Amino acid sequence: MKITFLGHASLLIEVGGKRLVVDPFITPNPKAKHLSLESLKPDYVLITHGHNDHVYDAEALAKLSGATLISNYEIVSWFEQKGVPGYGMNFGGTGQFDFGTLKYVYAAHSSQLPDGSYGGNPGGFVISDGARTVYVAGDTSLTQEMKLLPLTGPKIDLAVLPIGDTFTMGYQDAAFAAEFVECTQVLGCHFDTFPPIEIDHQRAVDHFASRGLNLHLLEIGGVLEV
Ligand code: NI
Ligand code: MN
Repeated sequence: MKITFLGHASLLIEVGGKRLVVDPFITPNPKAKHLSLESLKPDYVLITHGHNDHVYDAEALAKLSGATLISNYEIVSWFEQKGVPGYGMNFGGTGQFDFGTLKYVYAAHSSQLPDGSYGGNPGGFVISDGARTVYVAGDTSLTQEMKLLPLTGPKIDLAVLPIGDTFTMGYQDAAFAAEFVECTQVLGCHFDTFPPIEIDHQRAVDHFASRGLNLHLLEIGGVLEV
């Protein structure tokens, strides 16, 4: 599995010969000006929740490549009205896809779509190709529910966790989250995009290291092999 960090909470995940883009917020991100939507060519667009910093480029990107949207039922219904086909889910559900399996799991946050529509419950994804498993937490606080993931699913090889604080957990709570999901390898996201979520990278990395955890902070466009 190959993960490319596209800035903020946006990711390209290459798994099972397919391309999954998570939470595309690329064209409004001044730090991601060197990326183009046209180059991403996703087969699937995954949306964790309805906030603008997660759905901004979803419609344009899905229409460029004919991608299928995967999210909660309410978000999928909203995008279907715009002509984007989707696969709607809710907490605890696992979908079988041509790239592997994807489970929609709990997140503690909020979820309003850009026009004020109800965006269902915010969530995260556990994506597995049978050999490797990645947990994309989405925007969330630290929750006890994270402890259920290693009990109910395959061993998690990489956890993608928000670390920017203010709108999500900060890096200290994210280190607990890594322990809750029993994963030592963490890719940080949802930091530095806006002033309220700017973090001290070295302090965050050192904090994880002090607990025996490895926090990866990629440049936008940077790649991690799982
Ligand atoms: Ni949010
Ligand atoms: Mn957000």
